[in-house]
Amino acid sequence: MTQTRPLSRETLKAALGWLAELGVDETLAEAPQDRYAEALREAPRLKSGAPPAASAAQPRARPAARPAPAPAAAPVAPDPQEAAAASLASAARKAPDLDALKAVLEAFQHPLRAGARRAVFEDGLRGARLMVVGEAPGADEDRLGKPFVGRSGQLLDKMLAAIGLDRSKSDPKEAFYLGNILPFRPPGNRTPSLAEVEVFRPALERQIALARPEILLLAGGTPTKALLRTETGIMRLRGTWSLVQVEGRELPALPLFHPAFLLRAPAMKALAWRDLLSLRRRLDGG
Ligand code: URA
Repeated sequence: MTQTRPLSRETLKAALGWLAELGVDETLAEAPQDRYAEALREAPRLKSGAPPAASAAQPRARPAARPAPAPAAAPVAPDPQEAAAASLASAARKAPDLDALKAVLEAFQHPLRAGARRAVFEDGLRGARLMVVGEAPGADEDRLGKPFVGRSGQLLDKMLAAIGLDRSKSDPKEAFYLGNILPFRPPGNRTPSLAEVEVFRPALERQIALARPEILLLAGGTPTKALLRTETGIMRLRGTWSLVQVEGRELPALPLFHPAFLLRAPAMKALAWRDLLSLRRRLDGG
């Protein structure tokens, strides 16, 4: 019998580093689950159309002499996620101010909560002329409770500082306000699903309405698609001004490459700089 030798510390470190590179930075269970082996075990059953093992073990029903009458249609139970989304939308629309909206999100039960430490709601100056809308908190934001405070947030701050904006200022003309579509960190920083975006969009729209910015800066493809209600990607839309409808108000919105993308593709910073200058002109009334 072959004996498996314990892996060295270096090998284990390299394997963990490789997984982290792939975005696997969460442990979800005590023991690993081999999904490939499970799929292979399932394959013959699926091919033959046999019932799953548990029900295959049950005694077979005798063939009925006559076909049984069709059972009465059971009432369709409401999808719990849809019901929760509707209740979030309704509570968010009723929130009279940003603190109340924040409390609504903090109390909202959603599967993403399981992997997140807290709801990340806002940073910067409420009432600033510019609001930056991001995608979702990452690990640093989840730890510190504020949007855009990790590496990509630091780049965002530098980019906006280059056009005279600073989230810590108290003058609405010099400051900016920040929020995300999702308040909870998705596991492994994966891109939020369409369904998750749909659940949280009404709350984000309420946040925009209550913060009353004049201009929106949409950081990356996810907020761009969600707020412009489009399938077109950020590569095509960046730098193009659009109007976003929020609670009866039209707001000019500018899609910009997400700073995390710029960290991976620094050559794209030249295009982002062009977009920032366009934002500066718009803030100056141009
Ligand atoms: N990326 C985002 O989109 N939002 C954050 O808050 C942090 C990183």
